[in-house]
Amino acid sequence: MTTARLRPEGPADVPGVRRVLGEAFARPGVAVPDEVTLVDALRDTDAWLPELAMVAEFDGGDDDSIPEDAETFGQVVGYALLTRVRVDPAGFPALALGPVAVRPARQRRGYGTAVVWAALDAAAELGERLVVVLGDPAWYERFGFAPASKLGLTSPWSGLGAPWQALVLPPDVSGAEPVPPGEVRYPPPWSQV
Ligand SMILES: CC(C)(COP(=O)(O)OP(=O)(O)OC[C@H]1O[C@@H](n2cnc3c(N)ncnc32)[C@H](O)[C@@H]1OP(=O)(O)O)[C@@H](O)C(=O)NCCC(=O)NCCS
Repeated sequence: MTTARLRPEGPADVPGVRRVLGEAFARPGVAVPDEVTLVDALRDTDAWLPELAMVAEFDGGDDDSIPEDAETFGQVVGYALLTRVRVDPAGFPALALGPVAVRPARQRRGYGTAVVWAALDAAAELGERLVVVLGDPAWYERFGFAPASKLGLTSPWSGLGAPWQALVLPPDVSGAEPVPPGEVRYPPPWSQV
């Protein structure tokens, strides 16, 4: 398991974040993956929550068989982003998780798990109650995500057979408002991916 430093993204991390996303979501014939464009677009919206754009720094590594490829201690190798969405008609504030990525040369060493937990823990500390994600359930169930339909939630992906999931975070105060059912609304950059 990695001992990487986990912290919110700063302005100097932007090129490193683009590199992580570009490598992790690389597809043949695609110069810039949609995930890079999505994150760049979200940074310029009200949905962006600076404390919840989480990076994992390279920790020096514990496996000499993996080439270092000029990577230095402290560079960004993992990323997990939480941005604002809302549940209508209640207007209940929630978070969308994604993209989540680790540089291919550094995968399967715990960075992905660590950076997602760091983002979820930071969200819980801020009093956030609900996180939704579109992605492989085999990966997201380890964090407690389950089909969002179980909570009476719908989204643009509902009914399409897409693996759209939700996680209710523990309330920070007793008597907290319950998570309402409804339609989760994503800001415009999401509709372009
Ligand atoms: C998914 C991803 C972020 C995981 O990061 P990572 O640092 O390799 O993950 P960790 O080392 O913390 O955990 C590895 C575990 O996740 C599992 N895993 C990795 N990717 C997975 C996936 N897409 N589906 C299911 N399980 C996955 C591995 O099998 C491994 O399982 P184990 O712990 O039982 O051995 C990384 O593989 C990645 O960037 N993938 C490409 C981008 C992507 O698909 N992101 C969205 C994920 S839906």
